[in-house]
Parts: sequence; C-alpha cells; structure tokens
Amino acid sequence: MLRNDQLAEWDRESFFHPSTHLGAFARGELGNRIVTGGQGCHIEDREGNRLLDAFAGLYCVNVGYGRTEIADAIAAQAHELAYYHSYVGHGTEASVTLAKMIMDRAPDHMSKVYFGLSGSDANETNIKLVWYYNNILGRPEKKKIISRWRGYHGSGLMTGSLTGLELFHKKFDLPLSQVVHTEAPYYFRRPAGIETEAEFVAHCVAKLEELIEAEGADTIAAFIGEPVLGTGGIVPPPAGYWDAIQEVLTKHDILLIADEVVTGFGRLGSMFGSTHYGLKPDLMTIAKGLTSAYAPLSGSIVSDRMWQVLMQGTDENGPIGHGWTYSAHPIGAAAGVANLRLIDELNLIGNAGEVGAYFLSGLREALGEHAHVGEVRGEGLMAAVEFVKDRDTRTLFDPKETIGAKVAGALLKRGIIGRAMPQGDILGFAPPFCMTRAEADSVVAATKDSVAEILG
Ligand SMILES: Cc1ncc(COP(=O)(O)O)c(C=O)c1O
Repeated sequence: MLRNDQLAEWDRESFFHPSTHLGAFARGELGNRIVTGGQGCHIEDREGNRLLDAFAGLYCVNVGYGRTEIADAIAAQAHELAYYHSYVGHGTEASVTLAKMIMDRAPDHMSKVYFGLSGSDANETNIKLVWYYNNILGRPEKKKIISRWRGYHGSGLMTGSLTGLELFHKKFDLPLSQVVHTEAPYYFRRPAGIETEAEFVAHCVAKLEELIEAEGADTIAAFIGEPVLGTGGIVPPPAGYWDAIQEVLTKHDILLIADEVVTGFGRLGSMFGSTHYGLKPDLMTIAKGLTSAYAPLSGSIVSDRMWQVLMQGTDENGPIGHGWTYSAHPIGAAAGVANLRLIDELNLIGNAGEVGAYFLSGLREALGEHAHVGEVRGEGLMAAVEFVKDRDTRTLFDPKETIGAKVAGALLKRGIIGRAMPQGDILGFAPPFCMTRAEADSVVAATKDSVAEILG
C-alpha cells in the first residue's frame, strides 16, 4: 500500500530522530512509521494501518486527534496575526486570554504564567527563576535542586540533569553538579524489610532528610517532582507521600516545583496533580495538555510569594533577563484557548476520571493474577503493568530479555499503541481523555492476549 518508497528512504538518510537507536535505524533494523492522520483515539500511517493510540502520542494529545475546533482556531490566528513577540509588555488577544484562563484554573496562591514552548524549556525557566529568587533574597549559596531518581523533567542540560534516568545522563556528562537525586516514591520497588506504604513514606522522608543534612539545607533551593512519576514508570505516590515531603521542604525553606507537564489539565481526573494530591507548589510546569499538542506551548506558573520577590528583583536590577523569541507564540496560544474550552465543553476531565477508573479496573481484572505481572497501577488516565520474573519475591527479569518491549510489540501487532517505558519492564498507557469504555475494553483484551503471547 506504499504510495512511494522515497519518503522512507529520505527518512533514513536525513532525519535524526530523538530517543531512537541511531545505528539500528540507519541500518534499517528498526522500522519507521510515517503517520498521516488521526481521529479521536486513532492514528493512521501511510501503509494504511489504523492504530488505537493508548498513549496519546507522548501523553499529550489529551482531547484526541482531529479536533476541527482547535485546527480552525490555529488557522484563524495564522491569518489574522501569525506572530508578534511578548517582550516589554507586548502580547496578543490569544496569549492574554490564555494566561487568564490558566490562572483561573490554577490554585489560588499562584500568580502569573510565563510561556515557553516545551516542558524542557519551562523547567529550565523554573530553575533560573529559583536561582534569581534566592539571589534577590541574598542567599547566593542556596542553589542546589533536589530531584528524584526516575523523575523525568526534560532532556536539556539542566532538565536532563533533573531527569533521574540513566539513559539521559550516560555519556552526556550529566547530571550537572547543582542537581542531587533522592529516593523515587516507588513502593513496588521498595527496599527489603519495608512492608507498608506508611513505612515506605517514612523511608523516603528519612532519605530526603539525610540528603539535606549531607548537603546542608542552606545550599538547597528547590525540590522538583511530578505528582505521579511518568516516564520513570507511571507510578502514583504512596498514600501520604506528598504531605510528608512537603513538611520537610517547608521546615528547610526549600521551594517546591510541581512538574505538571503530564498531569496538568486533567489527566488524573482533576485539573492538576497538585490539586489531586494536595501539593502547594511555588512553581508549576505545564506543557503537553495545555494545547493537547496541537501546537507547541508550555508554561511556568509562578506563586504569589515568588512573584513578589521577582518584582523586587527587577526594581533593583532592571528587566528580567529571560525570554524566548517564541514565548507566548500566538498560534500556540490560540490552540491553548480552543483546547481548554473544548475540555470544559465536553467534560473531558470528568471522562478521564471515569473511564480511567474503568480502564484500570479492567486491567487489574484481566492481568492482576498473572504469574508474571508484579503490579497493575494507575491514577486517572495513567496506567501501567509491570512485569516480573517472580511475583512473590518481586524478582525482575534480566533487562536483556526486553520483556516490556516485547509485550508492547505484541500489542502493536493487535493494533494498539502502548509504551514500553524506558527503564524496567513496564507497559504504560495514557490514552486521550475521549477514550470510550468500548475502546478501553479493546485495549484491555489486546493487552491480555499480548501478555499471554509473550509470557504464557
Ligand atoms: C513530566 C515531564 N516534564 C517535562 C517533560 C519534557 O517536556 P518536553 O519533551 O516537551 O521538553 C516531559 C516530557 O515527557 C515530562 O513528562
């Protein structure tokens, strides 16, 4: 069914793909897929395959594919005014409207939103704002950032350092020295001897206290975390984790950055992960769900407490020395306005919560007792199945067996896209919010068959 072979050839000859085994791709050992269309939860490729995308791209096409309301808003904005910058008090109707819509939805103690283009650049902005803040407060030593092992915060120099996954550090000379990592809130992979979530939370708190003690609280500026660990394995926090962690941060005057790139705007069935788990962040990172990826746009939402200090900083030092040409790009902003309206009009956050719970219980019923399934977990429309060699002892497979990737491959053969998460044998799901119960049933059935094919 190929319309011509040339595009596939150009792809291998010319295109440096992110997060790809470069050699395997160039040699043709790794297939390419050229995606041509999408509607609802499905995408189509140029070989005529129609696939149910149960990962919403990279957990970002939250309203689903093919939304003409957003496409029309983008086109109208491009015709009216494709670009103007946002420096020195400039803006557009779309960017100002979107800022207002975001702040109407953000927790009450948040004050302003700075716009970027990607989750990575928004987190870079956040770290610069944290450093600026402490310099203005006369605390030049208080600069280190605590992140968690298995956290994912981007792949720039600073954000790749914040990310706590080996692949993103190895051979890149990361992490940078200003970043230190602490325990992941990953109950399933808890150390031996810990038998309850409460004990594990106490262990995470003790590890954090130990790290702060070792580094010195007066050298630590901020703690960054995703409300639910995403790329690190789709791991909801154990009960009481965020309350306990926030208590430690408050005690040591350490700022909290909630990275809501995946959880923001409804993925957990709540507007934000922060509201879902009772976080009171000083900064919130937003991206993906802000436009449902119809155009690149991200944001750093700044609390009132920080805003006051940033204003003091510009009174003392002149305009803030930070900005991108494409900050608050009108086309991204128009996409964001149309996207947030659509989410409200169709009650998609309600659907994410409702179908998410249905989907998770379906996965648990289908796979919860399988001899090689260690855990089925999730929250809202994020779910994961973790495979183990022995479920009683939680012994992992040898990573060389690539069990997670094999199950994801078997699922793909059945027309469903899940994601083999990068570290561990974990099959992840994060479908569009418009997924129906019938579509959820088909993902569950295909997953069950795929697991049976690979693991018996
Ligand atoms: C929690 C989180 N933060 C930041 C990022 C980085 O976003 P981007 O890929 O848009 O730079 C991601 C991307 O997956 C993410 O999941």
